[in-house]
Amino acid sequence: MSFENSSVVIRAIGSYVPEKRLTNEELSKIVDTNDEWITTRTGIKERRIAGETIQVSDMATEAAKLALERSGVAPEDIDLVIVATLSPETLSPSSACLIQDKLGLRKVPAFDLNAACSGFIYGLDIGKAMLSTGKYRNALVVGVEKLSAFTNMEDRGTCILFGDGAGACVISYVDEPDQGIIDCQLGSDGINARHIVIPAGGSKLPANEQTLKDGSQFLQMNGREVFKVAVRAMGQACEDILKKNDLTSDDITVVIPHQANIRIIEAIASKLELPMDHFFVNIQKYGNTSAASIPIAIDEANIERNFKKGDLILLVAFGAGLTWGASLIKWY
Ligand code: UT7
Repeated sequence: MSFENSSVVIRAIGSYVPEKRLTNEELSKIVDTNDEWITTRTGIKERRIAGETIQVSDMATEAAKLALERSGVAPEDIDLVIVATLSPETLSPSSACLIQDKLGLRKVPAFDLNAACSGFIYGLDIGKAMLSTGKYRNALVVGVEKLSAFTNMEDRGTCILFGDGAGACVISYVDEPDQGIIDCQLGSDGINARHIVIPAGGSKLPANEQTLKDGSQFLQMNGREVFKVAVRAMGQACEDILKKNDLTSDDITVVIPHQANIRIIEAIASKLELPMDHFFVNIQKYGNTSAASIPIAIDEANIERNFKKGDLILLVAFGAGLTWGASLIKWY
């Protein structure tokens, strides 16, 4: 079978963030920090916190419902569920299975993937590959995080950064060439894994009295080192995907980068020689929501800038693993 005359497209996207806000002002009462430092060093003003009653599957289900409604694809026509998250609701079952149930989908394949902040782009590439076999027609690709559950509120180096939320898209196989997800380039570098870790809670170090005492169930990060690698890897990923597709940065309608730090985004803009208004930024409202950051940003960018069919969107992310990815999307 040939798929040269077909594509996998993003049909629609939706997002959800919890109502509860945690402002820089409030954080400065918890740890030794201040609004001025957080704003100038990261661009973040506030983030959303799910709290005890809102779970990963709740946030993802809300985002997915919106995406389904906007796509015109009926829940019974979804053939596959891919959920990118590093903060699953439970280690087992997968969050994808919980979401499949909450949405009342057919008993279709559903699985989680963990590529941290790059997870949504990994999900798009995997979704595209699976749909391109012709076995599945429509898939839900979700990025969702409840990072507040893994944030050490005594560590000012990390607690100012992270927030909760979800974004979801419906991707579909269509009989039209050269549309939608044009290309994805993924990468990883496990040798530098030590720079972002959650040491406890996995099979190597299950939670115990000691891990609770030393807080090793929380995310730990060597921010300065990660910053440097992020700029290098994201810049390179953008250049590689543009070159491979015979494009220059001028061909891109908008770049939607992972929202980790405004200074990282500015450094990539300078590397690509693009003005900052070519980049969509909403980090001030949500902080770093890891796998949810890109789909939330696509949803908001589309609402704000009203994408037209044929607009070229460049997605780029970087995260724990270390992982990275870039994706070229022709809006459908
Ligand atoms: O999602 C993908 C993975 N994550 C990332 O991409 C994050 C990448 N890293 C970063 O965004 C930045 O490295 C941070 C925002 C985490 C930190 O910014 P930085 O400019 O690299 O600061 P730093 O760690 O070099 O710290 C500079 C100073 C230090 O004080 P001294 O040693 O110069 O006296 C820190 O102790 O700022 C201090 N500091 C703070 N001060 C006030 C660190 N955190 C804070 C804080 N408030 N929250």
